[in-house]
Amino acid sequence: MKKLLLAVSTVALLGLSAQAYSNEDIKVGRKIYDRAFGRGCGTCHDISSNPQLISLIKSGQLTKASFVKTVKEGKNGMPSITNGPTSIMNIGPVKKAGYSEDQAIDALWNYLNQ
Ligand code: HEC
Repeated sequence: MKKLLLAVSTVALLGLSAQAYSNEDIKVGRKIYDRAFGRGCGTCHDISSNPQLISLIKSGQLTKASFVKTVKEGKNGMPSITNGPTSIMNIGPVKKAGYSEDQAIDALWNYLNQ
């Protein structure tokens, strides 16, 4: 019985901390989406001729590995994660959160994939 209680409370605690982490993470992800590269990812990605990120992610056409690679390295008209003073790694919310490149990309992915 004791063991069962312990297991149940551990699961509950894990659930709570995962929730707290992902809420913060999603907030930073949204700020990146809205602010990176001047006016945010949507400046380019809300235009129908460019890749529509949310629908590509939801439909499974854009994998996380491919997302990470493009956001890190850039691709043609797509700026890289450190490209310029308004790049993802240079905006306030990312600096304030102290995120690494991988954490910033995870936050973006979690925001787009919620
Ligand atoms: C200056 C315009 C511009 C901005 C700002 C921009 N992108 Fe892009 N992005 C592009 C273009 C253009 C492509 C297509 C590149 C290609 O395939 O040649 C692209 C491609 C991508 C891809 C690859 C999509 C696929 O189907 O493989 C991802 C992922 C992506 N962008 C994410 C982002 C995110 C996240 C942000 C904001 C942090 C962002 N982009 C901001 C222009 C932009």
